[in-house]
Amino acid sequence: MRQNKVSLTFFGHAAFQLETEEFRILIDPFISQNPVCLVKLEDIKKVDYIFITHGHGDHVGDAVEIAKKYNSTVVATFELSTYLSKRFDISTHPMHIGGRFEFPFGVVKMTPALHGSGIVEEDGNIIYGGNPCGFVISINGQKIYHAGDTGLTTDMKLLADEGIDVALLPIGGNYVMDIEDAIFAAKFVSPRKVIPMHYNTWEIIKADAEQFKKRLDEINIECILLNPGETIEL
Ligand code: NI
Ligand code: MN
Repeated sequence: MRQNKVSLTFFGHAAFQLETEEFRILIDPFISQNPVCLVKLEDIKKVDYIFITHGHGDHVGDAVEIAKKYNSTVVATFELSTYLSKRFDISTHPMHIGGRFEFPFGVVKMTPALHGSGIVEEDGNIIYGGNPCGFVISINGQKIYHAGDTGLTTDMKLLADEGIDVALLPIGGNYVMDIEDAIFAAKFVSPRKVIPMHYNTWEIIKADAEQFKKRLDEINIECILLNPGETIEL
């Protein structure tokens, strides 16, 4: 039995869970309103940390409810962290683009993303949510890059030297990279494995993940397609 395993679960869209023997981490926990998520919010187990890439509803998701239930720490940009802690009285850890911090489970670097981060209030007004971001999360010897919502950017070339094990890349187009651009992103980041995300949640971000996998296979980059609810061991 491997001591250092990390279980990665895909909930659909950009929502993932990382689990070790000691820690449970969620990234962009869009659960209850996520049309492709098979897991119910009440089935989410105790969470230690919640990473949020930006202020859009399909990424903040159920973070507040989960954080309140389990007293989890929410990690986000300074602006989004401040908004969430003042508004909802949850504990947060603010970071910012380019910053690295050593958490009890491992080191995290906040990376740039090319997108928005506005928070839509109930009345439809948009609150400034700072910059969107991605995360490089090191845990139990695995380096996982969650790109967040982003267009293709040459900043991703800087990640090639990070030695990323698994890159979670959006492929759904319209709001984020499509398959063509995500292939460039995979080449830029040069990870051991790629898992596509942010597609087929709605018609507007429909993408053929099999085709993405085939294209990556042709350039010798391993691609793993996960169905919502699926777990793999890293
Ligand atoms: Ni977004
Ligand atoms: Mn999104």
